[in-house]
Amino acid sequence: MHQFFPANVAAAAEAKLNFPVIWGMVCAVNDIITSECGISNDRKTLDACTIVIFGASGDLTARKLIPALYHLYKENQMPPAFRVVGFARREKDSALWRAELRTALDQFSRTGPVDDKVWTAFAANLFYCQGDLNDDAAYKKLEAQLTEFGSGPLRENLLFYLAISPSQFGEVVEQIRRAGLLNKEGAAWQRIVVEKPFGHDLASAQRLNRELTRYAHEQQVFRIDHYLGKETVQNILMFRFSNSIFEKLWNRNSVDHIQITVSEKIGVGERGGYYEEAGALRDMVQNHMLQVLSLIAMEPPVSLEAEAVRDEKVKLLKSIRPLTPSDVARQVVRGQYFAGIVGGAPRPGYRQETKVKTDSNVETFAAMKLFIDNWRWSDVPFYLRTGKNLPMSASEVRIQFRRTPNVLFAAKCGESLDANALTLRLQPNEGISLHFNGKVPGMSLRVRPVRMHFSYDSEFGAYTPEAYERLLLEAIAGDATLFIRRDEVETAWQIVDSIRAGWEGRPLTNREFYAAGTWGPIAADDLLAQLGHTWHEPQVIK
Ligand SMILES: NC(=O)c1ccc[n+]([C@@H]2O[C@H](COP(=O)([O-])OP(=O)(O)OC[C@H]3O[C@@H](n4cnc5c(N)ncnc54)[C@H](OP(=O)(O)O)[C@@H]3O)[C@@H](O)[C@H]2O)c1
Repeated sequence: MHQFFPANVAAAAEAKLNFPVIWGMVCAVNDIITSECGISNDRKTLDACTIVIFGASGDLTARKLIPALYHLYKENQMPPAFRVVGFARREKDSALWRAELRTALDQFSRTGPVDDKVWTAFAANLFYCQGDLNDDAAYKKLEAQLTEFGSGPLRENLLFYLAISPSQFGEVVEQIRRAGLLNKEGAAWQRIVVEKPFGHDLASAQRLNRELTRYAHEQQVFRIDHYLGKETVQNILMFRFSNSIFEKLWNRNSVDHIQITVSEKIGVGERGGYYEEAGALRDMVQNHMLQVLSLIAMEPPVSLEAEAVRDEKVKLLKSIRPLTPSDVARQVVRGQYFAGIVGGAPRPGYRQETKVKTDSNVETFAAMKLFIDNWRWSDVPFYLRTGKNLPMSASEVRIQFRRTPNVLFAAKCGESLDANALTLRLQPNEGISLHFNGKVPGMSLRVRPVRMHFSYDSEFGAYTPEAYERLLLEAIAGDATLFIRRDEVETAWQIVDSIRAGWEGRPLTNREFYAAGTWGPIAADDLLAQLGHTWHEPQVIK
């Protein structure tokens, strides 16, 4: 028997949030979960292959890709035979590249100190290939390097990871094709993994898609949104479609509205130059937030096959009600932070950040009310908000259910009768909370909102593979479920472009500025007040 509410969670909630938690409720989790269905356990042995990383001397490779591959190796998840070839411009040999990556791993390993024996065995598979992406001869060198691995799968099964600027994608794909490293047909496989940002608007995304699919099939292109590699984001589907009690309520008849919050405590810091081009809408909404929205709201797919899941996600995105410029004025809010205090430390305003224009109108906050015009969600508002320099970093989805008829307890309990809510916490403190009303013990009829908690860590232990580990593994296995399809990325850009068109030529108003360390501009509260709603602030659960 397991206690459903870990004592520390309940105590923290009681002490810090002044929000009573029901005590003593136990559930026999082991009895209920009689079998674990392990999708990854069913996977056939992975093919031997070579991973070619373009951009091998860059930040992404050192901070994410190599640590992810190391951890997969350490956990015996890599194919029985594999090689990693790093391609970049700087002069160095394999020994130096390995030494640099080892130093980076010491810093970025998620499992603490690096195991020397494991590293040595892993690093023997790493090779550096120096060259310029624009130089034909460099690809011949790469081809020669791969041929040294023999004529079998290490030469033929190739995963090209483009950890480079999107402006270089087209050139690389053309060159690897010309070098005979990328084939559209054949017994072996070649795949291309590309990083965000995938374009900066619909036209540029379409251009990139054309460049990538000129020499490769769409099925060979794996577009990353690292949010989809997060355990808890994947759990949305598991939660929705394996629990009949919730799925029955998952529609307009029971749901009043849904809030999706992705808040960041950090400001733009050193990334002012990038942010001036991106803004919150492109940086967070076009990819991560619309992905979460589609998983929360999509219809059940006919299977867990990649195309079935992605079909439903695209269908959902296409049913988001289009926004005209006047809809944007009513339904979408921007914000920009001015100087304030975050976590006790002073922060400069956005316009004072390095590489930011002193009269910049770029949004560091965006909030919107979207409607999904389908049978399930007709007229249910979906509120999305994201921003920088907010009081805490958190991602959560709150399903706010409809109120009960106001007849029985209204006279005595009045305003204190809360509507039920289900909160899916994606990070931190990954878990699920259900809010409902409970009677305060005693002679009088008093009601208080209480909360039931489920925490992944407490239930399953703190196993949190990095998103890149899962995504690399899925790409090696050829499973595209967690990657974004061409029509998906283009539909998301259509939505974002319509919002940008509505903002065109409109400077920020006073109600759109917010102090760093607050939950965003007043205009975001105005947005919810239109229908009598208020934002729910993510809460710290310890
Ligand atoms: N860093 C992250 O956490 C992160 C997260 C999400 C997405 N991304 C995206 O991933 C991509 C890479 O990011 P990053 O931060 O790793 O960039 P970075 O640190 O600037 O690294 C860029 C890499 O590209 C190589 N490169 C550039 N031009 C080249 C050329 N003409 N020939 C050969 N190699 C060339 C560089 O090699 P040399 O240094 O040898 O010239 C370097 O290895 C970008 O598109 C970025 O937006 C990054």
